[in-house]
Amino acid sequence: MRVIIKDNPIEISHEAAELIIKQINKDHGSVLGFATGASPVETYKRIIEKYNEGEVSLKHITTFNLDEYVGLSQDNVNSYYYFMQDNLFGKTDVNPEKINFLSGKAENLEEECQRYYNRIKECGGIDIQLLGIGTNGHIGFNEPGDKFKDIPFPVKLTQSTIDSNRKYFEAVGDTMPEYALTMGIGDIMRSRKIILIATGESKAKAVKELVEGEVSPSCPATILQMHADVTIFLDKAAASLLGEKK
Ligand code: PGA
Repeated sequence: MRVIIKDNPIEISHEAAELIIKQINKDHGSVLGFATGASPVETYKRIIEKYNEGEVSLKHITTFNLDEYVGLSQDNVNSYYYFMQDNLFGKTDVNPEKINFLSGKAENLEEECQRYYNRIKECGGIDIQLLGIGTNGHIGFNEPGDKFKDIPFPVKLTQSTIDSNRKYFEAVGDTMPEYALTMGIGDIMRSRKIILIATGESKAKAVKELVEGEVSPSCPATILQMHADVTIFLDKAAASLLGEKK
C-alpha cells in the first residue's frame, strides 16, 4: 500500500488524474472504475482539463461505477449516473455505449447485480478502480458488517452514510433513499490497480483504520491492505491520526 500525503488537496487530485491519464494513454481501451462523492471531483476536473488540452481522449475507455441509489432514475440530479455526466462523462468524449452503471430502477435488483458482475467479467476486469472512503470506513457502499461481500449486491445504507449524504437530497427537497446497489469487495479487489482519495479531518479516523487497523469487515476499507497495487492519496488533515496510538 503506497500512502502519499500532500499539503493541498489539489495536488492530490493532479497526481491521481495523472495515474489515470497514464493508464488511458498506455491502453486507449482501458476499463476504468469510477467513484462519486466529493473526493474524486477535483480529479475529474483535472482529467477534463487535460482532455481539453488534447493530452488524453476517453473515447475508447469502458467505465464502471461503484454504486447507485435504489429508486433513482438516471435523470435524477442525485443519481450517481447524473453525477458522472455532470462531473466527467458529459464534458469529455466518453462513448455513452461504453458507460456501465448499476440501475437503481431495475425491477429485480438481484438480477441487476448479477448482470453487472457478468459485464465486468466480459470486459476483462477493471484496470484502475478509483475510490473514496466513508467516515465509517465503507468503500463503494460496502458498509461495516460481519463479512466481506464478493459480487455486486443491494445494501441498506447505515445511519452514518445517510447522515453524510442527506444534504445533497435536502438541497432539492428530497428524502435520501435508504437502499443502494454496490459493487462488492471482491469486485473492487479484482481491479488490477486501486487509487483511494481521502481529504479532510472527518476522514482521519477511517484512514487510520484503513492503513493501520486489522483487516476486518467492520471497517471494509481495511481489505485494501491485501491488494498488491493500491495508492492512497491523503491531505494532511486526513492523514493526521496516522502513527498515533489509538
Ligand atoms: P465523499 O464520500 O467523497 O463524498 O466524502 C466518500 C464515500 O462515502 O465513499
